[in-house]
Amino acid sequence: MKLAKQIEKKLNDQVNFEIYSAYYYLGMAAWCEERNLNGAGHFFRLQAKEELEHAMKFFDYILERGGSIALEPISRPAASYKSLRDVVSAALKHEREVTSRIEEMMDSARAKKDYATQNLLDWFVEEQVEEENSMEKILARMDLAGDKGAGLLMIDKELGKRGRETS
Ligand code: FEO
Repeated sequence: MKLAKQIEKKLNDQVNFEIYSAYYYLGMAAWCEERNLNGAGHFFRLQAKEELEHAMKFFDYILERGGSIALEPISRPAASYKSLRDVVSAALKHEREVTSRIEEMMDSARAKKDYATQNLLDWFVEEQVEEENSMEKILARMDLAGDKGAGLLMIDKELGKRGRETS
């Protein structure tokens, strides 16, 4: 089944948005590291890498379906935050936006009876549960530990463990 133009456009928009997400998280990594919150910086660097992987999943899929890639400029991300809590809240808000975009795409794919795209999006629906949950958990831990002094350093240390846990 040929990829519908409307779906192709939405998938291309999502390539752009996922790359923008990487850029957005890279801005957060910079904000953290400029303030010596290197654990949080590490966390957001990894988050940025993951977003590029998401972009590539959409990119590869468009090509696999015989569609055309239309790359657009990437917007400048926010760069000023009041605190690490502010950064993580912004990240959660961002992930909720990604989720609603994925859901909208799913609605379109269903309307077009495009089962292959629904299958791709199923992966993202699951991924978004994890993404939102990860930010929500950090905020909850911050509420317990506080986002200043020793509490902040403890959270920063925890964030620095991302991808480094030994099993
Ligand atoms: Fe690609 Fe964080 O959603």
